[in-house]
Amino acid sequence: MVAPKGACGLPVVATVAGLTRHLADARAQGASVGLVPTMGALHAGHLSLIARAVAECDVVAVSIFVNPLQFGDADDLAHYPRALDTDLDLAATAGATVAFVPAVEEMYPDGPGDMTTTVSVRDLGDRWEGASRPGHFDGVATVVAKLFAMAGPCRAYFGEKDFQQLAVVSRLARDLSFPVEVVGCPTVREPDGLARSSRNARLSPEERAAAAVLPRALRAGFDAMVEGEYRPAMVESRMVQVVEREPLARLDYAALVRAVDLSPAASLLDGGPFRLLVAARVGPVRLIDNLDPGEDLPAELAAGVPAQERGA
Ligand code: PAF
Repeated sequence: MVAPKGACGLPVVATVAGLTRHLADARAQGASVGLVPTMGALHAGHLSLIARAVAECDVVAVSIFVNPLQFGDADDLAHYPRALDTDLDLAATAGATVAFVPAVEEMYPDGPGDMTTTVSVRDLGDRWEGASRPGHFDGVATVVAKLFAMAGPCRAYFGEKDFQQLAVVSRLARDLSFPVEVVGCPTVREPDGLARSSRNARLSPEERAAAAVLPRALRAGFDAMVEGEYRPAMVESRMVQVVEREPLARLDYAALVRAVDLSPAASLLDGGPFRLLVAARVGPVRLIDNLDPGEDLPAELAAGVPAQERGA
């Protein structure tokens, strides 16, 4: 059943059968389909994914589902921001043509805890975020595989902000032969460099200011590489120093990895592409960010790192 909802008039589908039928009908009429999976609390990062999908596809489905399977921490799930009416307005304004908003029982009829078939992306899903949040990527991979199965042939849009997630879903689409082209889209940043994230809404003003330490740490790692540092441990220690100087931040990891499989880089002399990763807790929120050191530095990150943070 496709029902327009709220002031925006965006058609909203609540059932798996409804979504599958809606997108199959669109394809039968020759339309190309774009899928933007989200957990709601839409911000500029999501809107950039929708805009890209709108530019490349005739029909754009935005899914809004806070997936319990990917939360190890009940408190994190309980506090995850929810704003459905605003989300529908934002998605409609960005050009989405349908929203998929299922209940938990629709996605997991036996309950998320009783799923007997789940998807696990070995190695890639076990490192970094996977190590810090056991089971997280199994939850992401499982719900994304379900969304891919429902949507059918399409392009699916994910942000580079969650770089490991992008790698995991790209891998699962390939390994399981989903007829889905996974498209990675650049991170959208605040003027001080902080990556847009739904979790930023939970930061106090002091914590919000402190959170800019993540992009500063990435910038410091990038600067070290530009200065000719080829030892990953030294690049990482520059990033660590920056985070450790911020009293409100608690570092989880700062790493220089091979972009292809996110394994730790042995030496920069081995050749890239590489990726800088950082994760830290700021107040009640765990934040992550990453940077491609091989591309032009995003304008927000080019602003500079104070001299003492550069190890000068
Ligand atoms: O990035 C997210 O919002 C979620 O992990 C996703 C991809 C929608 C799966 O629940």
